[in-house]
Amino acid sequence: MASLSTTVGGIKLECCIYNASGPRTGSAAALQKIAESASGAVLAKSATLVKQDGNPLPRGIQEIDLGERSCPGSINSEGLPNAGIDYYLSKDCVEGVALAAPGKPYLVSLSGLKLKDNLEMLARVGRTAGVHGIELNLACPNIPGKPTMAYDFDQMEAVLEEVFKQAPEGVPLGVKLAPYFDFPHFQRAAEILNKFPIAWVTCINTVGNALIVDATNEMAVIAPKGGFGGLAGGYIKWTALANVRQLRKLLKPEIDIVGVGGVASGEDAFEMILCGACAVQIGTKHWSEGPKCFDRIATELRALMDQKGYSTIKDFQGKLKDWSKPPKALKFGATKASADAGGAAVSKQVQMYQGIISFLLLVIGLLLQAALQSP
Ligand code: DHB
Repeated sequence: MASLSTTVGGIKLECCIYNASGPRTGSAAALQKIAESASGAVLAKSATLVKQDGNPLPRGIQEIDLGERSCPGSINSEGLPNAGIDYYLSKDCVEGVALAAPGKPYLVSLSGLKLKDNLEMLARVGRTAGVHGIELNLACPNIPGKPTMAYDFDQMEAVLEEVFKQAPEGVPLGVKLAPYFDFPHFQRAAEILNKFPIAWVTCINTVGNALIVDATNEMAVIAPKGGFGGLAGGYIKWTALANVRQLRKLLKPEIDIVGVGGVASGEDAFEMILCGACAVQIGTKHWSEGPKCFDRIATELRALMDQKGYSTIKDFQGKLKDWSKPPKALKFGATKASADAGGAAVSKQVQMYQGIISFLLLVIGLLLQAALQSP
C-alpha cells in the first residue's frame, strides 16, 4: 500500500494531508479532534497577540449553507476571531494535541496586526515546548483598513528581515501567501522569499474580496465589509494549483511548498502534489465535512497512487508534464467530446463505404443488363 509520509520544512508527517488554519481550529477541543483524526499535523487558528472577537456575523458561508445553489466553495470575512497566542501555546492546546496523538506535529499560525505583535508572538513560541512549526500568515485579506501583506512586496521583505532576525531557533518557520495572478508578481515574490531561510511556503490563502450575491433577497451573503470576503474551496482550486506550480519553479529547492485551496478529494490532493506540493491542507472541506475528511481524502489518494503504481509521493511530486497529445482520454468532458468526434468520424467512414458499395452494385447491375441484352 502506498505511503503518504512526507516532510514539511524538515518536520516529519505520517500523512501529507492536514488541516488549514481557519475553520474548526479555534479551540483546544477542535484541535484535539483534528489530532484524533487522520490529519498528518494539527495547525491552530491564526492567532493575534491578544484575543479578538472578529467581524460581525454572519461572516462565513460554505457550500452547505449555500444549499441548492450547490456552489463548490465558501466565502468568509471573519476578521481574525481567535483566542490569542497564549491560548494556542497553553497546555490545553499543546498538551491536548500531544496526548490525543503522541508524535503528531502541532503547528501555530501567527497573524499579528503589526510587526511588533508578530515579533512578540515569535518570542513566546520560542519559550514554549511542544510547538513543532510556525506558519506566519502574510495573507489575511479580511481586516478592514489593512492591506494584504503578501501584495505589498516592500513591506513583505521588510517584515521578513525583522522576523528572521528574531525567529526562534530550532522551530521551522513557513509563510502563508496570498494568491498571485501575474507572472511578474510570482517572480518578485519568489525573489524576496529566496533571500530568507524560510522552511516552507503555504499557498494559497483565500482569493480576497469576492462578493457572493443572494439574488432572492438582493443582498450580500455575509455581513462584514459590505459583503466582501475571501473566496475559498472549489472555486479557487485552479488558482491554487497554478500558484503551487509556479512557485515550485521559482523558489529555491530548500523551500517546501504546502498546497491549499479547493482540495476535496484524493484526486485533488494528487494534482497539488503533481504541481510540486510536499503536503496538502484542507480548509473548506474540513469546515463542511468535519475531521473525517482527512481519512477519506488520504484513503482516496492512497487508492489512486496504488492504481497508478506510485508507492511514495516523491514518485510523482512536481512531475506535472506540459501538454502533448494525450495517450489517454482526457477528463473535463473531453472524453465525451472525443467520443462524439470519434462517433462522427466512424459514421463518415460508414457513409463512404456505403457509397462505394452502392456504386459497385450499380456498375455490376449495368454490366449484367448489358450482358443480358447482348445477342
Ligand atoms: C482570516 C482570513 C484569512 O484568510 C486568514 O488567513 C486569516 C484570518 C479571517 O478573516 O479571520
